[in-house]
Amino acid sequence: MTTTMYREYSTKGMPFRRLGSSGLRVPLFSLGGWLTLGESVTGSSVKDIIQVAFDNGINMFDTAEGYNKGQSEIAMGQAIKDLSLRRSDIIVTTKIFFGTKDGPNDTGLSRKHIIEGTKASLERLQLEYVDVIFAHVPDYTVPIEETVRAFNYVINKGWAMYWATSEWSARDIEEAHHVATRLGLIPPIAEQCQHNMFHRGRPEREYLPLYERYDLGTTVWSPLAGGLLTGKYANGIPPTSRYALHASTFSSTIERLFSTEEGRKKMASVQELGKVAEEELDCTITHLALAWLAVHQHTSTIILGASTPGQVLDNLKALAVIPKLTEEVLEKVEAILGNKPEELPTFGRPPLDVTGKTRR
Ligand SMILES: NC(=O)c1ccc[n+]([C@@H]2O[C@H](COP(=O)([O-])OP(=O)(O)OC[C@H]3O[C@@H](n4cnc5c(N)ncnc54)[C@H](OP(=O)(O)O)[C@@H]3O)[C@@H](O)[C@H]2O)c1
Repeated sequence: MTTTMYREYSTKGMPFRRLGSSGLRVPLFSLGGWLTLGESVTGSSVKDIIQVAFDNGINMFDTAEGYNKGQSEIAMGQAIKDLSLRRSDIIVTTKIFFGTKDGPNDTGLSRKHIIEGTKASLERLQLEYVDVIFAHVPDYTVPIEETVRAFNYVINKGWAMYWATSEWSARDIEEAHHVATRLGLIPPIAEQCQHNMFHRGRPEREYLPLYERYDLGTTVWSPLAGGLLTGKYANGIPPTSRYALHASTFSSTIERLFSTEEGRKKMASVQELGKVAEEELDCTITHLALAWLAVHQHTSTIILGASTPGQVLDNLKALAVIPKLTEEVLEKVEAILGNKPEELPTFGRPPLDVTGKTRR
């Protein structure tokens, strides 16, 4: 009989937060595999990135069936196995919708695809269960009751501990809650949404009523706006960067960034934010941009993307910057960004603050 020598986990000072309304404790920084693990990063380099993350307190890994048609799940699952990570030490999340094939029932949120897709994901990950299974985007072609029932079936089968949404509108999330409550089923526990200094509308405006009502938490994606908030694109597109490696995917983003007034303003903001970071916080814009997200109290976890182990280590320096973000610094950042979402209309009633509570 062989006994596995597990790699020991230490939080290394990583803060943990509850994931939305659930009892699951997630690390403030987690790691995702979109475009990187199993795509631009392959072989032993995947293991190197996951190892450096795990050894520095990141024990949550996010992927999706659709990331490089299942290759991200395969690469992550293999690395988790090769590194001998104890299952109870880690949190693995995947997302269902985009599938790995294009048949009429190979994608979406039907009962058939949710169940078949989940089983296929687990096989690729070489795991018996994932901790959270996300509905990657809403599916307006399927009755919401079918989707809610199917995710509950997945949980009851033991293939996932919880289910959650991603890129759903506030209205869609509310509907899922109503259906689940009516049927006595488990509602989604969190929302995986894009949130960064240049993308704020949903988490900072649209979801406000949900934070209080459903104890919604967010698992934030593209926290560095795909690398833009590192300042790496200030002088063009570096040859090994995401915009160079995935030029066709990002062609309209690149066009807007380098050829429009909106893009010029973003670039100017990046420069100015970099100065605030350096002069007032003794850090880089990368650290400031990540710490700024951590300050939002409904951010449960910030999903980092990294193409090298060094990027993971660099990004974790943001932890030291969080306590330095005083009201004064945050106001300076706000003045540079100039994109604070408008308050929700309350027609003369007291407005909602960022916690979703009524400001008196
Ligand atoms: N639910 C959804 O719909 C959805 C959508 C997208 C992503 N996600 C999840 O969110 C995760 C993170 O998203 P993301 O990858 O877009 O995050 P991001 O942090 O905005 O971008 C990550 C990229 O920025 C660059 N980078 C990161 N740290 C850096 C550093 N310290 N210095 C220089 N460059 C650095 C790297 O790109 P290069 O080195 O290649 O330039 C890296 O791949 C994904 O992996 C995925 O799990 C979910």
